[in-house]
Amino acid sequence: MFQSLSTYYETIKNRKIVDLFEDTNRFENFSVSAGDLTIDYSKTNIDDMARKLLLELASERKIARKRDEMFAGKPINDTEGRAVLHTALRAPRDAVIMEDGQNVVPEIHKSLDDMAEFCEAVRSGKITASGGEAFTDVVNIGIGGSDLGPVMATIALAPYHNGTRTHFVSNVDSAHINDVLKNLNPETTLVLIASKTFTTIETLTNAKTAREWLSNVKDANQHFAAISTAEDKTSAFGIASDRVFGFEDWVGGRYSMWGPIGLSIMLAIGADAFREFLDGAHQIDQHFQNTAGADNAAITLALTGIWHRNICGYPTRAVLPYEQRLLRLPAYLQQLDMESNGKSVGKNGQATEKTGPIVWGEPGTNGQHAFYQLIHQGTDVIPCEFLIAKEAHEPELAHQHDLLKANCLAQSRALLIGRDLDEALKIAKSKGYTGAEAERQAAHRVFEGNRPSLTITYPKLTPSVLGQIIALYEHRVFVEGAIWGINSFDQWGVELGKELAVQLLPAVEGHKIEGLDGSTQGLLKLLK
Ligand code: F6P
Repeated sequence: MFQSLSTYYETIKNRKIVDLFEDTNRFENFSVSAGDLTIDYSKTNIDDMARKLLLELASERKIARKRDEMFAGKPINDTEGRAVLHTALRAPRDAVIMEDGQNVVPEIHKSLDDMAEFCEAVRSGKITASGGEAFTDVVNIGIGGSDLGPVMATIALAPYHNGTRTHFVSNVDSAHINDVLKNLNPETTLVLIASKTFTTIETLTNAKTAREWLSNVKDANQHFAAISTAEDKTSAFGIASDRVFGFEDWVGGRYSMWGPIGLSIMLAIGADAFREFLDGAHQIDQHFQNTAGADNAAITLALTGIWHRNICGYPTRAVLPYEQRLLRLPAYLQQLDMESNGKSVGKNGQATEKTGPIVWGEPGTNGQHAFYQLIHQGTDVIPCEFLIAKEAHEPELAHQHDLLKANCLAQSRALLIGRDLDEALKIAKSKGYTGAEAERQAAHRVFEGNRPSLTITYPKLTPSVLGQIIALYEHRVFVEGAIWGINSFDQWGVELGKELAVQLLPAVEGHKIEGLDGSTQGLLKLLK
């Protein structure tokens, strides 16, 4: 099927996307809605035939069956022998989701209730610090999936913060924990140690540093809670079992903020708003499960990804939220997408076709003043994914949101229409250039255009909408991975570096170790 898509692409690749708008219904025909989200992909080179072939590819690669297996709790993470059931974390109380012969929903809701009880007690001052004062600040220590989702969502939902102040420490770099803790009072700070495995060296090192920082409070243990699947390890760290929020290993790290790993989010926004966040995600789960073909937003988003990556050959995609509070969305998506789909071996153990692209981005309008130059005039084509709300949270500053919208629309339109040499020449001449110099100047002012983008719109960045956006991207990653035939739920590619760091620590500390390459030896000397 890739072959028929590629053959078809050869016949259309030089046409102008803008000409496709001769179909006056193109916007309606090439946009898709799910919940509160609308994805406009009319500014791509996908037409009826390309979409038909992409949908045939999805059905040839058995996407619907694979999706149903995931939702049904089949052990689809087959290098780790696990089910993949993060979607169960956001299912309603009366849902029935079976894993290994058991309905997992009651346990999930019990855990959500425990989280809510703990959060409300901390927020109301019922659970206090060891000296009797209310907690004012929470520090979440975790990394990767135990950090990126909570940080991203906590920043995104700033208008809903009505609880403790929340801070995050992830990097083993002493600068990170130092710069966070130096502004806090140990007497009123609660530390959450978030680690699925409770073996991650960065997190355990920072946790020990936090314990030392808390050494002068009356009872340091009262200043800790842990979130992990490894309760034996949390108790070895000295955390009382009623302060441990456990979860199951069928929740992947990068898919985990919907459950206990989201405790820091819940502490910031409260249990009700957290439930709205889960309900938003659940709404998209249902859409993904129950909507066929071209009307399925997650499948459509995935197929635009496949089109750009495998058929057009573009190596990266930019995610450009015109929403300052989605500042960490690109970083979050880098883990979600690249840790899931950055693979080169399929489930069958064989080499794959090209898989996950590089995902990157920054909020607009800031990015416009940094890297958009390359997006508009560089030698690579970079499909862009814009996100923009109809409404901001600051009605009194609506004129600023209008300007934000105008910028967002201007960028996708500029990518589409470009600016040809004639127009560039007119501009150069209007600046007073003549003859050969006018032509030279004009060449720099040409925009090739014809660069694809899609735009995701939503009414306002509420907890529900955030849940919808993230679930949409999760399922997009799933569909792309399923098309490539890879396991999107393991991450063996992070292991070698971890092992070598453990081996190299003695060398960094001054011990001699044999067998190192010349560069590593040279760098060790420089860093001694
Ligand atoms: O190093 C990668 C990784 O294993 C991620 O997949 C995970 O989210 C992160 O480390 C943190 O792991 P943990 O939550 O077990 O500390």
